[in-house]
Amino acid sequence: MDRPKNLKEALREDLTEEELEELGTSFDIVGDIAILKLSEKLLDKKKRIGKALMEVHGNLSTVLRQTSPVSGEFRTRDLEVIAGEHKTVTEHKEHGCVFRVDLAKVYFSPRLAHERFIIAQKVNPGEVVTNMFAGVGCYSIVIGRHAEPEKVYSIDKNSDAVSYMRHNIRVNKLGDVVIPIEGDAREAIDEYIGGKSDRVLMPLPEFGREFFDSALEALKPEGGIIHFYDYGEEPDLFKPSFDFIKSASRGRSVKLKDKRVVRSYAPNLYHVVLDLEVGAK
Ligand SMILES: C[S@@+](CC[C@H](N)C(=O)[O-])C[C@H]1O[C@@H](n2cnc3c(N)ncnc32)[C@H](O)[C@@H]1O
Repeated sequence: MDRPKNLKEALREDLTEEELEELGTSFDIVGDIAILKLSEKLLDKKKRIGKALMEVHGNLSTVLRQTSPVSGEFRTRDLEVIAGEHKTVTEHKEHGCVFRVDLAKVYFSPRLAHERFIIAQKVNPGEVVTNMFAGVGCYSIVIGRHAEPEKVYSIDKNSDAVSYMRHNIRVNKLGDVVIPIEGDAREAIDEYIGGKSDRVLMPLPEFGREFFDSALEALKPEGGIIHFYDYGEEPDLFKPSFDFIKSASRGRSVKLKDKRVVRSYAPNLYHVVLDLEVGAK
């Protein structure tokens, strides 16, 4: 029998028209695991839906249903297996790098792949980079692989994320470049990496504003670049973020070099990034 072209086609016999409408079309694939959200109305068909997704994508081992929003300090989510092997660990390939992740214990989104590559292209040879919220090390490793930084300090507070980060640094052969640091970004910057960075990444839009003073501290006294991730709403996606930056820049000059929508979250709500050039202390 031919492989069905998409999930709706695979389920045409099993779901009513109304249920097919409820299904939605978006899901993430991370390595050999798919993650989807289902509306309440479809929960009694979840196993059939999981199996159908495996029929459509022949290389999947597992289908997970996301049962809570991404939440908490570590930005994790609850998941349940609805088809295939009972596992949450997989290996994901992106831009010539490989990341091992446990989707139940750490944050990971394949939707940030393009943004990670954009950042890597902005890094100049010989730069010292600090990634304040590094997770399993994806931005740091893509930078290490595609740019020629001197060092990438790669901080995360979630000890599971840092264990995977150490593994990922090793398998991507970046042990001389990407330095994993387990702990709070503010404390790590205060204790060892303040004043050393040419560039700082802040990929934590939910709480990034609380750490902007630390990002300034991480920069060299002569200044540098901060990639500040935030949420933006229509009609002006970037102005409230930049107004915040101006109010929090502690007398240092800040120029907006670039700004992008990373992805949309909800109607009218966007994940945005502002690339900031910060002047000398
Ligand atoms: C949205 S995730 C981004 C992870 C990674 N940059 C990526 O794109 O996959 C934010 C990360 O910040 C970490 N985090 C939260 N608060 C932190 C803090 N105070 N210091 C260091 N890391 C923190 C979380 O554990 C999580 O891994």
